[in-house]
Amino acid sequence: MPTLTPSAPASSASAPSTTATAPLTTGTRAATASVLASQDRTAELEQAIRRDPHAFRILTGDRSTGALHLGHYFGSQQNRVRLQNAGVELLVLIADYQAITDRTAAAGLPDIVIGLVADYLALGIDPDRATIFAHSQVESLNQLLLPFLSLVSVAEISRNPTVKEEIAAAGTPTVSGLMFTYPVHQAADILFCRANLVPVGKDQLPHIELTRTIARRFNERYCPEAPYFPEPDGLLSSAPLLLGTDGQKMSKSRNNSVPLRATADETARLVSRAKTDSERRITYEPERRPEVSNLVLLTALCRDTTPEAVAAEIGDGGAAALKRAAIEAINDRFAGLRARRAALAAEPGYLRSVLAAGNEKASAIGAETLAAVRELMHQRY
Ligand code: TRP
Repeated sequence: MPTLTPSAPASSASAPSTTATAPLTTGTRAATASVLASQDRTAELEQAIRRDPHAFRILTGDRSTGALHLGHYFGSQQNRVRLQNAGVELLVLIADYQAITDRTAAAGLPDIVIGLVADYLALGIDPDRATIFAHSQVESLNQLLLPFLSLVSVAEISRNPTVKEEIAAAGTPTVSGLMFTYPVHQAADILFCRANLVPVGKDQLPHIELTRTIARRFNERYCPEAPYFPEPDGLLSSAPLLLGTDGQKMSKSRNNSVPLRATADETARLVSRAKTDSERRITYEPERRPEVSNLVLLTALCRDTTPEAVAAEIGDGGAAALKRAAIEAINDRFAGLRARRAALAAEPGYLRSVLAAGNEKASAIGAETLAAVRELMHQRY
């Protein structure tokens, strides 16, 4: 089991004791401070990973609401593959309970889940080294939700900005208990295998913070002498947040994304309807021109160059030239991945066997954790 020295004080700048008492009006400032602290910490962690990749266990995951898209690829997937290839142990979770917090019709789940496995393998996650599993299939993981729920207050969950956003985005008149508590479930996802590193986008930082709180409180309450759970770190990817074709955050559930597996024609259709603005000259100014800058950024990421270089090249070509460049860049960059994915999709039996093996491995890890937790909680009769 990987162990890591506790986080440097840098990351405690965003400890719950600070955020919990912060008045609402400073929420944005507190969140910015937390992102900055995580960026510093990320640089430290990257060095530590280079020194000793085996000191880390990564748990990361995606909710099974649809196919992976470009935002996932540049935001998290690429980073996972890089870390896997650097020798870090990698567990990839398909959050199929989290999927039912909102709109996904349950009957569609098997195809989505198996489709995710195909996406993972096509983009370079190696089933021989990594563990791909679905959290509904790991009973011990879900069992941890109960003790963890006892360690957080309703007020703490209510304050979680990501949950607030999710609830707003779902647009449903009521909030289910599962939706409300999903960050606690996410803590169980991370801690069931005692992962110490979680590569995430900025929007997930509040969940990492809650996970750290839960780990700390569990340790304080049940095993102060020998802390059992690590306080995991979020590892921010260096890619900036990609927007969807409507200028909002790219999201499977917002219907504004370009799926990784989209065909070249589908990509052209999706990108050509993307929102832009009426200024002819193409520039990279994310604050002032978010939609245009987003297409510039996407093109740059696909070409492994800088957004400034892309903007300069297109110059007075306008939005039409920008979109043509973006479409070409995406289709070039992902042609190989898409071909691999198509070949994998033709082998559903193989994909199911990869998932079954991952579920089994995760269950063995989770059973060990649950046994230790029961012991520590004096629930052995
Ligand atoms: N909440 C994540 C998302 O919406 C998915 C997720 C579930 C996750 N459990 C996790 C991510 C554990 C990292 C670690 O994308």
